[in-house]
Amino acid sequence: MEDATGVLTILHDISFELAPRESVSIVGASGSGKSTLLSILAGLDVPSSGRVVVAGTDLFSLDEDARAALRARQMGFVFQSFQLLSHLNALENVMLPLELMGRTDARAAATEMLRRVGLGERLSHYPCVLSGGEQQRVALARAFVVRPALLLADEPTGSLDFATGEKVMELMFELNREVGTTLVLVTHDSAIAARCDRQLRIEAGRLVPEAAQAPQGSQPTQAPVQALSAGSA
Ligand SMILES: Nc1ncnc2c1ncn2[C@@H]1O[C@H](COP(=O)(O)OP(=O)(O)O)[C@@H](O)[C@H]1O
Ligand SMILES: [Mg+2]
Repeated sequence: MEDATGVLTILHDISFELAPRESVSIVGASGSGKSTLLSILAGLDVPSSGRVVVAGTDLFSLDEDARAALRARQMGFVFQSFQLLSHLNALENVMLPLELMGRTDARAAATEMLRRVGLGERLSHYPCVLSGGEQQRVALARAFVVRPALLLADEPTGSLDFATGEKVMELMFELNREVGTTLVLVTHDSAIAARCDRQLRIEAGRLVPEAAQAPQGSQPTQAPVQALSAGSA
């Protein structure tokens, strides 16, 4: 919607908290603002107003470099389009976030994570020779290898066939439990959404109060992420 100032407001009055280790799905029609919300949670898009507090730190109180450093330490990303670097092989793709953090054990840790996702025999393969499901498993390995506090996944099965998508989702939930990551999952698939602890529905940039809320006892005691009252230009 365009207001008198010509600003396009995509998200309005969205506020929620995420507890450590919980999984939350974000559902809503195409164009409702799901990807924009994930970008803001990641600090990649800057909202015109509002805050995102990650483990006590307000993302937008940091400068770009500090925000990038926090993102590298605390967040993993999985996208519909995999987003692997085509000139790096599977192992190098997974090593990259560790190397950027200065980890000297990058090779060993990346190798172990690729084994964990069933790609121990594919270490030196480039993305172009991997199937979609294999590429997404490399992307999962890359996302989880830093043991992030928060994993943001945007339609991670959107370009996979049903059976492959199911396997990738299964793996994502397993890693979520093993690593203790908080998982925010954007999906069109209501069956996948229902497997998360909680569902958030967005309609035209607004959060719809859900009838089915978090079960008793799983309410956050401390919040690693608080978001947000955002408009995004
Ligand atoms: N960079 C941008 N500039 C202008 N409008 C955008 C931009 N990115 C997204 N939008 C608009 O914001 C709305 C929400 O988009 P998006 O967050 O991608 O929705 P979803 O992921 O739910 O499909 C859409 O109307 C889209 O056209
Ligand atoms: Mg989207």
